[in-house]
Amino acid sequence: MTDYKMYINGKWIGAESYFETINPTNEKRLGRFPNGRAKDVELAVAAAQNASKKWSRTPPPVRGQILFRVAELLRKNKKRLGMIVATEMGKVLPEALGDVQEAIDTFEYFGAEGRRLFGNTTTSELEDKFAMTIRRPVGVCGLITPWNFPVAIPAWKLAPALICGNTVVLKPSSDTPLCAYEIVKILIEAGVPPGVVNFVTGTASDVGQAIVTHKEIECLSFTGSKDTGEWITANAGLKKIGMELGGKNPIIVMDDADLELAVEGIIWGAFGTTGQRCTACSRVIVQRKIKERLLRLLVERTKKLKTGNPILKTTDVGPLINKKAVEKVAGYVEIGKNEGAKLVCGGEQPKGIGYFFRPTVFDSVEPDMRIAQEEIFGPVLSVLEFEKLDDAIEIANNIEYGLSSSIYTKDIRNAFVAIEKIDAGLTYINSSTIGSEVHLPFGGVKKTGHTKEAGIMGLDEFSNVKTIYFDYSGKLQKAQIDD
Ligand code: UN1
Repeated sequence: MTDYKMYINGKWIGAESYFETINPTNEKRLGRFPNGRAKDVELAVAAAQNASKKWSRTPPPVRGQILFRVAELLRKNKKRLGMIVATEMGKVLPEALGDVQEAIDTFEYFGAEGRRLFGNTTTSELEDKFAMTIRRPVGVCGLITPWNFPVAIPAWKLAPALICGNTVVLKPSSDTPLCAYEIVKILIEAGVPPGVVNFVTGTASDVGQAIVTHKEIECLSFTGSKDTGEWITANAGLKKIGMELGGKNPIIVMDDADLELAVEGIIWGAFGTTGQRCTACSRVIVQRKIKERLLRLLVERTKKLKTGNPILKTTDVGPLINKKAVEKVAGYVEIGKNEGAKLVCGGEQPKGIGYFFRPTVFDSVEPDMRIAQEEIFGPVLSVLEFEKLDDAIEIANNIEYGLSSSIYTKDIRNAFVAIEKIDAGLTYINSSTIGSEVHLPFGGVKKTGHTKEAGIMGLDEFSNVKTIYFDYSGKLQKAQIDD
């Protein structure tokens, strides 16, 4: 088994102890990664600070060229990386390739920002005075990434951080360090200078905590659970913090909807990535008149889904990420049953090795049940019903999260009511809750966090706007006082 290394200040380094990364399909070990410590974070931050002197002054179009090369190398390695994602994380192969494609798109998108990074120019209230804004780097950024998009989400953070002229310390999830290691290797090959990207593996309590509390890290970007997000907020001090913390995303189905289409979208949203997306559909809110028909179609389709090896073409749903995830999902199935919801399919682990769980549907779910409120992060779907659209919106909003949402309807008025009234960062009309595109902003409201990643707004997290007043009158002019 290979021993992998961390990458700090342009050098590959090991540690005193190692942890293993596991293939969730067969529970076999894939490789060993260093248990980094606070002292490794210290070295990484010092290297990042030092590298920042030159990198922050490198012209953005030159930084952009490097990001284009990253995109090129990712493209060249797409199949190989897709296999690694499928193996280490358990995504079915088409989705694993999609994960890599999203990273390619992201590096291309932000590479091109090297020739834009626009500020604004505007007027002044005084004569002979010029006003504008520019973007400046924030400094050293700590990037803490999850396992569910093990290539795309590091890319969402690395690409905008680098194009804005920051240097970074990247801590990947300990479930998918191999995917992150592959990205780091590509960054190096593309010409990212030593110290600009530092890669530190290890536990949340050692490496994560050292990054979160480090005084010289100016900016933190985190995607993960709400509990960890709250801990970070309480411990990070006065840093610029970006958070993306999950969801409990609804699909509303009106009685005028194309039911076949709605069922396709629900299946894709609920069971794609084995339900392990923060944008996963975990609640279907369906109008009473069509509820039985929709449920029948949904259960029919769900029962046909094949769990299995994510690399096989015949597989629809891969494994969960680890044993703990299986226990959590099984725990929620018990909670649902005890709350009085009706288990209509799934609800158990298939026999054999691997962290699999059968796609599960609960009927007769009430809005306040825990299975309708809490993020399960697995293939468990709750079906709720409503009479009038306003009630559906109330149910949709009756959660602490606000990431994605969707409505299936043929009536344009219903669609606009949903757009205006659902409290979420994303609303899809007649398509599922998942599948955002890299040139549009992505992020939520409420306890999901309020950060936008991707798109042009993805630059805001990783840059500071400076306002510039240029007075060429040659005399003292006083704003608000001189006419
Ligand atoms: C996440 O699950 O953390 O639209 C993000 C989507 C993906 C992003 C998911 N592009 O579902």
